[in-house]
Amino acid sequence: MEKQNKSIHEFDIDLICEYFLEIERQGPGSKEVTIKALSFIDNLKEDSQIADIGCGTGGQTLTLAHNSKGKVVGIDLYPRFIQKLNENALKHKLQNRVKGIVGSMDNLLFNNEGLDLIWSEGAIYNIGFKRGLQEWHKFLKKGGYIAVTEVSWFTAERPREIEEFWTDAYPEIDTIPNKVRLLQEAGYIPVATFILPENCWTDNFYAPQVAAQETFLQKYVGNITVEGLIANQRREAKLYLKYKEYYGYVFFIGRKI
Ligand SMILES: C[S@@+](CC[C@H](N)C(=O)[O-])C[C@H]1O[C@@H](n2cnc3c(N)ncnc32)[C@H](O)[C@@H]1O
Repeated sequence: MEKQNKSIHEFDIDLICEYFLEIERQGPGSKEVTIKALSFIDNLKEDSQIADIGCGTGGQTLTLAHNSKGKVVGIDLYPRFIQKLNENALKHKLQNRVKGIVGSMDNLLFNNEGLDLIWSEGAIYNIGFKRGLQEWHKFLKKGGYIAVTEVSWFTAERPREIEEFWTDAYPEIDTIPNKVRLLQEAGYIPVATFILPENCWTDNFYAPQVAAQETFLQKYVGNITVEGLIANQRREAKLYLKYKEYYGYVFFIGRKI
């Protein structure tokens, strides 16, 4: 029997991409938060190499390029997201410093010790936090930084409804201290950890989806999969408002030892 509530990862990926293509961000975040996370990173020069893994259409990739030195490579599995990033880089005259390439985070083609900074907002969950931290470590130079956001519990205990929702969607969800321990065990000095403000979810992630949902429903009238996808996104937004004291996205920043 089909589950009543699916996680977003269980829908047709082309539909998810099309849905998110018109929205500036594909996950919670903001320019201010990207800039705040960058303020902890002090090793960037003109010749620095930065990778933004799971960049989506590149909202944060352009912020990174505007607010740091060095070259930024954005990597995402989905060609239409990468095409949009490269178009936007051109619009912002950043094409000499920003390049989007299609690729998978579990098969990155960087040289060992070739990167000064690895960035990943709202995307490391695709490979898993622990595995991503471990596998990407070799690509960083000694003293290089990693900065990722990850959904995390704020409290040791929480109501059953939200516990079940997230454990089903992402079983690796855990408390902030447990995530920091994983960062340390993977060979990084934990440099900073901070919780993304609520507006990263409400104003920047869920609000822009409201209009996109109407457009999408009109385009695909009667399509059960689309209706399911939208119902799912609406449920997730409702749960966030109900339980936001208990979880959120957290920036984890570490320096390779
Ligand atoms: C929640 S979105 C976050 C996008 C963007 N970083 C942001 O914050 O707006 C997750 C991104 O990971 C990408 N992704 C999923 N699996 C991937 C993989 N195996 N390799 C690279 N990117 C992947 C998706 O296409 C999507 O763009």
